[in-house]
Amino acid sequence: MYMEKVKLHDKVFRIMIPYEEIVAAIQKTADKINNDFRDCKEPPVLLCTLHGALPFTAELMKRLDFNMELTCARIKSYEGTDTTGTGKIYYFPTKSFVDRDVIVCEDIVDTGITAKEIRRMLAEAGAKSVKVASMLFKPDKYIARQGSLEGGPEYCSLTIGNEFIVGFGLDYDELGRNLKDIYVLSEE
Ligand code: IMP
Ligand code: MG
Repeated sequence: MYMEKVKLHDKVFRIMIPYEEIVAAIQKTADKINNDFRDCKEPPVLLCTLHGALPFTAELMKRLDFNMELTCARIKSYEGTDTTGTGKIYYFPTKSFVDRDVIVCEDIVDTGITAKEIRRMLAEAGAKSVKVASMLFKPDKYIARQGSLEGGPEYCSLTIGNEFIVGFGLDYDELGRNLKDIYVLSEE
């Protein structure tokens, strides 16, 4: 069972996507990734973008049926309920990405600034291929910023509008990441 409403800092959020719906969507994403990577000769590298993508990465990776490696990067672009306009890299793994297939796990692709920055860094690090798997995607925000859907996530579990959400890894100024379900900012 989920709570109807939660309060984080000064704001109230109401239930939007229950846990069961989230994991069913993640299973579909895992099925697609399994189809595409099952016959990969070298194990791909799963890159979890901390902190938001931690629960998504955990749910996704246990459903992948091919050999893979895991690493993490720390990137931050949001403050409060808005993007800062830059994807700031706080930590990038020392692991070699040279000639590796990389699957980036993102909690949400919004303006696409973060995904673009990660793609740039991985290309610079010599990755053979980069695919972005995002739990959530805000296509309207992405198009408004990038002009088209080009460069968006190759895999996406759930698509939403422009609303601000929390839970399942997503935060409002660091609170709400532990919520099992996804909540949307409420007007009242
Ligand atoms: P982008 O760089 O604008 O695509 O934003 C990606 C990052 O912003 C995500 O990894 C999240 O950390 C954060 N973000 C974007 N939208 C939301 C939201 O609705 N709630 C919480 N965090 C968000
Ligand atoms: Mg965040």
